[in-house]
Amino acid sequence: MSKPFYVTTPIYYVNDKPHIGHTYTTVLADVLARHHRMLGEDVYFLTGTDEHGQKIEKTAATRGITPQQLVDEVAPNFENLWKQMGLTVDYFVRTTHAQHKATVQARFTELLAKGDIYKATYKGLYSVSDEAYVTEIQAKEMQAQGLAHQLVELEEESYFFRLASYENWLIQLFEKYPEFVQPEFRLNEVKQFVAPGGERGNLQNLSISRTSITWGIPVPGDEKHVVYVWFDALLNYLSACKDGHWPPTAQLVGKDILRFHAVYWPAFLMAMYRQEGDDLSGEMPARIRELLPKTILAHGWWLMGDTKMSKSLGNIVRPKELLHFGTDAARFFLLRDMHLGHDRAFTFEAFMDRLNADLANGLGNLAARSISMLQRYRSGVVPIPEKMDELDTDVRERLLQVAPEYLKKAADHDFHGALDGLWAFLRHLDGYIVKAEPWKLAKDEVQAAKLDTVLAQLYRALRLTALLAAPVMPELCQQLWESLGLSGRVTDLRFADLDVEAPAPDPVGDPKPLFARIDKEAAMNEIEAIRAEAAPTIAPAVELPLDVSPLKENIDYDTFAKTDLRVGLVLEAEEVPKSKKLIKMKIDLGIEQRTILGGIKEAYAPADLVGRRVVVVANLAPRAMMGIESHGMLLCASDNASKPYLIAPPEDAKPGFIVR
Ligand code: MSP
Repeated sequence: MSKPFYVTTPIYYVNDKPHIGHTYTTVLADVLARHHRMLGEDVYFLTGTDEHGQKIEKTAATRGITPQQLVDEVAPNFENLWKQMGLTVDYFVRTTHAQHKATVQARFTELLAKGDIYKATYKGLYSVSDEAYVTEIQAKEMQAQGLAHQLVELEEESYFFRLASYENWLIQLFEKYPEFVQPEFRLNEVKQFVAPGGERGNLQNLSISRTSITWGIPVPGDEKHVVYVWFDALLNYLSACKDGHWPPTAQLVGKDILRFHAVYWPAFLMAMYRQEGDDLSGEMPARIRELLPKTILAHGWWLMGDTKMSKSLGNIVRPKELLHFGTDAARFFLLRDMHLGHDRAFTFEAFMDRLNADLANGLGNLAARSISMLQRYRSGVVPIPEKMDELDTDVRERLLQVAPEYLKKAADHDFHGALDGLWAFLRHLDGYIVKAEPWKLAKDEVQAAKLDTVLAQLYRALRLTALLAAPVMPELCQQLWESLGLSGRVTDLRFADLDVEAPAPDPVGDPKPLFARIDKEAAMNEIEAIRAEAAPTIAPAVELPLDVSPLKENIDYDTFAKTDLRVGLVLEAEEVPKSKKLIKMKIDLGIEQRTILGGIKEAYAPADLVGRRVVVVANLAPRAMMGIESHGMLLCASDNASKPYLIAPPEDAKPGFIVR
């Protein structure tokens, strides 16, 4: 039996349309799946959609359809994209599948019987926009940021999961099995979260049901409750697992959802797998570790400049724009340029530069030159090297090292490093050609053996590249494979069968261009056209209903006129450390400069604020937040659920102008 390899992506919310972030994670999972198939493993690749929750319920109501109709309409946005891209997904799970619902209900019942889930009354504050209970510390933070209106007092019955009971085992998991979260610096973040006395204090039990929502999986036997999102969503990995593949080998997640996967998820599983006699305050049995995911692989975010991509900023990169250059090109770029775990700025400029340098030049050019030399000087027949000088021996040694180095990095999930190493080798071969000067060797019969060596080594290097990079660029590598006169599907081969120095079975074919050089200016115009075409539908696939409080009571003019509103110009802006929402700004009010704090970090990056005109409430009494005094407030527009949009006076309004 070959070794199982179970890889998962997060299941995506259906109220968003696919973007570069979803594409990146799913492509990375596909590359891992293909790579491990070529390692001879028994791969199972799972992705899907997360379809329950209040937002879906509300949207369906405004459209006059059922939530089920709505999710059936939008889930294919994801499923079809992966099909169109040729991803080798084995199963597409939806949380509305009967099989998934049955698993969630069965596990819920089981944990209730074991005492890991209990019913209690929650009394406290609830954030309407986050659809979550908030602790006192969080509530204070929100109040300081002027978000008090999003908090409501709540008293409701809820089922809780005893997360706190698993703190000891979780800490042992992180200490003893550091491979559980990769890369390492992301594990440190998780430890911080759980550590007693750490940043967030000890773990608190987790509310896992709601009575205020109906669109969810009913709690068995107590149907006014539905199971709350994370207990529902995380269990997809269990409900859709294929026999013989448990536990997951690599679970890919973005850094924003790492905590759910590295803390809640293993705790749920520990509760399910713990047996009579296991001591939660003692040592975690090794048996439990064996049943938990091997690695949660946390990646960073694709950013626009140093700003988050967001619908409100309209700077989201959509799959169609990426795929304009070909699926394989997009796959190569995403894997080659993202250093796993870190954030990375996306620009079309860098995207096109990478493709031109590495695919049009780089590999494409090397393949075209090498194959046409084989045809010209040896009628396509690949010679056997018999004579090696120092230069050739150096290349031979590198040729023998390339695959082990590539495979080692890939085993560590470092495709950025693996591809970087492979392409460094290809550049070295360009130098080899320049130094060996095959065109001169071809003119001298005495040098025939030397020419044989050069041509054979180039061929071997290309054959090796086609094989190693096939999981990343399956089609492009197949094309190269065929140009090298090789038959069959390169992706059907196994890395273990690789014999770098095996003779070529057949003569090489015609050198087909692998990747046409991109004319950047023309391509940018094409991208703009794709965007313009998509613009009317750039709004979320699911239109969220307006979520506003009722109008306030009337006031007289004099009361209104007491407010002194001014046009301000942002001179400087920086994030307030440790605050999730605050940005500190220096604002020019024409007559003076002020320090003002704004709760807008989630919607704006500091760099994008500098130079903007804003409307300032200028006669508001100063107020300290996070130890900094704010002398005024910026006007924003939003509803209770959306991010704040800054009110922008026209460009020619001077700082200090009175708004009236
Ligand atoms: N439904 C939950 C996941 C439940 S898993 C049991 C969810 N869905 S999501 O659709 O909002 O996000 C899915 C993934 O997209 C997350 O891993 C998130 O990190 C990732 N990304 C969203 N924007 C991103 C970028 N700009 N760049 C890279 N990935 C990002 O969360």
